[in-house]
Amino acid sequence: MKPPYMPLAIAALAAGAIAAPSMYSNASGAACIPQHDPNPKQRAAGVSARSVGFIYGPSLIGEAAPFPNGTLGNARSRSDYNTWSIDRKKIDSLIANDTQAMGVSIQLNGGLKTWQDYEKVLYDGQLKNSNPRGVTPGMIANATQDLLFSMERLSEHPYAVRRVMANEALPFPLGNNLTAKIVGENATLESLRDSSRLFIVDHSYQKDYKLATVVERYPVACSAYFYIDSKSGDFLPLAIRTNVDMDLTYTPLDSANDWLLAKMMFNANDMFHAQMLHLVISHDVTESVHQAALHTLSENHPIMVILERLMLQGYSSRIVGEELCFNPGGHWDQLMVYSQFSCRDFVTDRWPIDGRFQGGYLENDLKARGLIDEKGESLFRSFPFYEDAKEIRDIYKAFFTTFINSYYGTENDLSGDFEIRNWFVEANTKAKGHDFPKEEQLTKDSLIDVLSHFAFATSVSHHSTNGGAPISSGTLPFHIPAIYTPIPKEKGVTDLMPYLPDAATAVHYLGFMASFNRPFYGDSGRALEDVFVTADSMTRLNSETNSAAKDFLTGMHNLSEKIRGRQFNNDGLSQGMPFIYRTLDPAYIPFFCAV
Ligand SMILES: *[C@@H]1O[C@H](CO)[C@@H](O)[C@H](O)[C@H]1NC(C)=O
Ligand SMILES: *[C@@H]1O[C@H](CO)[C@@H](O)[C@H](O)[C@H]1NC(C)=O
Ligand SMILES: *[C@@H]1O[C@H](CO)[C@@H](O)[C@H](O)[C@H]1NC(C)=O
Ligand SMILES: *[C@@H]1O[C@H](CO)[C@@H](O)[C@H](O)[C@H]1NC(C)=O
Ligand SMILES: *[C@@H]1O[C@H](CO)[C@@H](O)[C@H](O)[C@H]1NC(C)=O
Ligand SMILES: *[C@@H]1O[C@H](CO)[C@@H](O)[C@H](O)[C@H]1NC(C)=O
Ligand SMILES: *[C@@H]1O[C@H](CO)[C@@H](O)[C@H](O)[C@H]1NC(C)=O
Ligand SMILES: [Fe+2]
Repeated sequence: MKPPYMPLAIAALAAGAIAAPSMYSNASGAACIPQHDPNPKQRAAGVSARSVGFIYGPSLIGEAAPFPNGTLGNARSRSDYNTWSIDRKKIDSLIANDTQAMGVSIQLNGGLKTWQDYEKVLYDGQLKNSNPRGVTPGMIANATQDLLFSMERLSEHPYAVRRVMANEALPFPLGNNLTAKIVGENATLESLRDSSRLFIVDHSYQKDYKLATVVERYPVACSAYFYIDSKSGDFLPLAIRTNVDMDLTYTPLDSANDWLLAKMMFNANDMFHAQMLHLVISHDVTESVHQAALHTLSENHPIMVILERLMLQGYSSRIVGEELCFNPGGHWDQLMVYSQFSCRDFVTDRWPIDGRFQGGYLENDLKARGLIDEKGESLFRSFPFYEDAKEIRDIYKAFFTTFINSYYGTENDLSGDFEIRNWFVEANTKAKGHDFPKEEQLTKDSLIDVLSHFAFATSVSHHSTNGGAPISSGTLPFHIPAIYTPIPKEKGVTDLMPYLPDAATAVHYLGFMASFNRPFYGDSGRALEDVFVTADSMTRLNSETNSAAKDFLTGMHNLSEKIRGRQFNNDGLSQGMPFIYRTLDPAYIPFFCAV
């Protein structure tokens, strides 16, 4: 039998008195699915009124998710922005304190004159207020090690790397003799590719991007090969091609300075990628799906209660981006490798690809990039990002499994929920989502996956790239945000100092990166592990869900303890890396896209 289905407009007409619509979904009282609502007419009228009050407005920062317009939409983004501003004032004053102290230290040192000055003067005893946790252990001391550079692809910067597939043309050439000399075992690019051991990060698309003119900088658009060493099992760098000017290709066999500069140039491109991708895979993906829910789900729907919690101050970020990051001559134009216009181009280009909802599910993404096999097994001896991200996703999934089973006894209960069916339709149409499951695909399992990925996107996707990650792991002098002197026309560079940001730019850069950090969230109940237990709205959900919320906290806290317990072994390694991966600590990262 077909479940009852009442089109929204008719329901609204039938309802008579229209309840005052709210820009937030925090009605009081127990939440329930529409079939169980004692007052279906009033409920439908509320959905209708909200659907009218929220309008899908134009995207911000490139062409991606719509941004809310309409009376409710504007009220909501203003209110979210005001909420964001409270923490902004707080972190800004901490940063002001820290950058002032840093300025004094630089002055006492007589400026930044050596590589070691950047390592010590900018970090020793610095950033105490805005990054009290300190920087990623080992990231500065071991910055020049190849294993650090390569393992960043499998931990701190996990979204750009992919395997070169067996049927694929080689992305760029590298002589057989050279390859064999680096890899041994008479290896060629072809033999590495055919044995599933050749990987690429390709940022060559950046050669079309424009430089901002406010500060003089120089373009690079590096692509890099990595490989798995058959003897040690290590994941290592093989070559870096600059793709601009003389189009030099560097390898570990070059002089120490040449190779180090190549890795630094790559880092500028990779930082651009990570920061811009974060907009697509966290903000745009969740805003699109959440707006679809604002148009279709009642404030009284249990799923709306959850989505609202995850979207805390969600509509502040893209406004902040327009105002403070990507504004003409703003932080981005002053600091990063390419201009704000390139940022928008990146978002527009990547939204249909990296903004795909199901394509972004952890295993779907990693399989598509050839980093895990069909069974979900990693190809690497160690894959730190996958390890933690999967555990977080699994804990979320366990919670949502209980939640969904507690509200929908059977699949029929779910197919009878016309609000959820409308949501799925809306996400695929008016909300302009890509690859969200179709209405026909709605099952308890697919819904659990949708919620798990939504929560993953506001936590793992956001904070693996942005949040507190850049100030902790994107350390100078190795991780330069842009190139400050013309790149070499031939190998043999002797002095790397001209390629580093000057003191004023370095301080500005660190302050900017610190502005994404929220070190005080762990103490204020806003870390990932707190998402449910500190939410007032949990009283509106049933006892099974509240009980699952306790298990969620236990599981997340357990993961946090594991992460906080990581140490270097006798070889100076942690998870096979010369630095300690703690970027996804659930007692540190927010559960929402905080900025
Ligand atoms: C709903 O929640 C928002 C944000 O948490 C709050 O500002 C507002 O006062 C709440 N409204 C009601 C009616 O509870
Ligand atoms: C926002 O919505 C209003 C009312 O429909 C409309 O007049 C206005 O043009 C919209 N703004 C944008 C930027 O689309
Ligand atoms: C920075 O904050 C600390 C306390 O956290 C305070 O002792 C110090 O005086 C402040 N420094 C500046 C320059 O404001
Ligand atoms: C590659 O190495 C072989 C054997 O050492 C040598 O004969 C050949 O000239 C080298 N080719 C190039 C292009 O260097
Ligand atoms: C490399 O190739 C040469 C010539 O074919 C062969 O003698 C040698 O054993 C090979 N070395 C390795 C490590 O496979
Ligand atoms: C805690 O984590 C360990 C692994 O670190 C795992 O074996 C154990 O089952 C976890 N316990 C809970 C309650 O999640
Ligand atoms: C990396 O740095 C840490 C901290 O300085 C050090 O203890 C460790 O031995 C280093 N690891 C390697 C492989 O050099
Ligand atoms: Fe963000």
